[in-house]
Amino acid sequence: MIILAYTVWFLSPSPPITAFLKSAEGKTVLSETPVVTLIACRNMWLEAQEQVKQLIKQANAYILDNVVLTDRGSALKTLVTTPRWMLTGKKNAFWRIFPRAGIHNNDIVAAQRFGKALLFSLLHGNVKNKNPVLTGLKAATVDQRLIGSEKIARRSFLIWGKIFRTLGPQGHLLRKLAVIIYGLFLIIVVATIVPLTMIIRTLLKPWRKLAIEKELKYFEGPSGSNDDRMEKFS
Ligand SMILES: Cc1cc2nc3c(=O)[nH]c(=O)nc-3n(C[C@H](O)[C@H](O)[C@H](O)COP(=O)(O)O)c2cc1C
Repeated sequence: MIILAYTVWFLSPSPPITAFLKSAEGKTVLSETPVVTLIACRNMWLEAQEQVKQLIKQANAYILDNVVLTDRGSALKTLVTTPRWMLTGKKNAFWRIFPRAGIHNNDIVAAQRFGKALLFSLLHGNVKNKNPVLTGLKAATVDQRLIGSEKIARRSFLIWGKIFRTLGPQGHLLRKLAVIIYGLFLIIVVATIVPLTMIIRTLLKPWRKLAIEKELKYFEGPSGSNDDRMEKFS
């Protein structure tokens, strides 16, 4: 079994992990092996995991379970605290309203339940039958309000990527200008589209119950957000 821990950058698996999954060495290691993905990020990981699913499939491996640890702060507050942490190294809470950045220490300590459950499953031979072994442990919880904005933002990232490549090689003046425009665009998108889609999805929730259930089942799979086995492994 392989535990593939990764973090998310711009709604994609961070470049070192993508490179590993695409490399001949990575594919050799992964081939025909059950993989437990372990994501640690702010709170937008759905599109990244979609890419990891594809890459793991291409490596002829399969995802047994997915565990996600995210920042406890609200989607809006972490839009401030995460870049602050990234750009200044400051993780502390500030101005009374902004919480400490990053994954809460208690969540890191509580993640030992996954290790215990994995060990239990390995010792009892449960891993061989390809069914998830980390169900009932609140492994992956999805905020349905963020599903829409992730899709829109990722599409826009792909378009921007194409624009960058057509403008010239890395370091080209036009490309540098485009980076500045992109930076502004990103701030505007984050400040408008993300909250807007969250509000729209919240308003539409009563009429989209079945569709939301389906989306949650898909994105929270294979391990899910149920907590009925928490006591056994905590
Ligand atoms: C360039 C960059 C882009 C990021 N993009 C995302 C993102 O799209 N979604 C997300 O949930 N977190 C994002 N984050 C936050 C990281 O996933 C992660 O929480 C943070 O970098 C802390 O992990 P580290 O200590 O491994 O850097 C980003 C961080 C960086 C530096």
